[in-house]
Amino acid sequence: MEIRTPNTQAEWDAYYQLRWEVLRKPWNQPVGSEKDADENSFYHVAAFEGEKILGVGCLKMINDQEAQIRFMAVANSLQRKGVGVSLMNALEVQAFSRRVTKVVLHAREIAVPFYEYCGYTIIEKSYLLFDSIQHYLMTKEI
Ligand SMILES: CC(C)(COP(=O)(O)OP(=O)(O)OC[C@H]1O[C@@H](n2cnc3c(N)ncnc32)[C@H](O)[C@@H]1OP(=O)(O)O)[C@@H](O)C(=O)NCCC(=O)NCCS
Repeated sequence: MEIRTPNTQAEWDAYYQLRWEVLRKPWNQPVGSEKDADENSFYHVAAFEGEKILGVGCLKMINDQEAQIRFMAVANSLQRKGVGVSLMNALEVQAFSRRVTKVVLHAREIAVPFYEYCGYTIIEKSYLLFDSIQHYLMTKEI
C-alpha cells in the first residue's frame, strides 16, 4: 500500500469518486456535494494498491498551530484493514511538519471509536449532517 497525494487527473477523479461513494451516496447526495469550496488549499492523501484507490483523507490548516482532518473515507469492502490508520498517520506527519500542535476533526458517531483508537478525545457534540448523522468534535495534541 502506498500513501501519497493523487497525481494524475484519473487519480483525482478516483479520489473524489471514493469520497462521494462512502460519504455522500448512501444519503442520496448528488455528485459534486462531496467537494468543498476551498479544496485546493487542503493537503490530500490517498491509499493506493497499484492503480486501485483504497481510501482518502485531507488536512485543512485552521491557523498556524491548528489543523483539521476532513473527509476520511475507506472503500466499504476494505474497512478495518488498517487503511484508515495509515491515512491518519500521513496527515498527522504533514501537520507536524507544518508546526501544527493541535489537530481537530468532526467525527461521525459511527467513526468515534476509530478516532479514539488514533488518540483523539471527544470535546463536545457538534453538528447533525443530513438531519441524521451526529458529529462529535474531537482533538489530539501532536
Ligand atoms: C472510519 C474509517 C475512515 C476508518 O478506517 P478503517 O480503515 O476502516 O480503520 P482501521 O482499519 O485503520 O481501524 C483501526 C482501528 O480503529 C478501530 N475501529 C475502526 N473502525 C471501527 C468501528 N467501526 N468500530 C469500532 N472500532 C473501530 C479499531 O480498533 C481498528 O483496529 P482493529 O480493526 O484491529 O480492531 C472507515 O471505516 C470509513 O471510511 N468509514 C465510513 C466513512 C466514515 O465514517 N468516515 C469518517 C467520517 S468522520
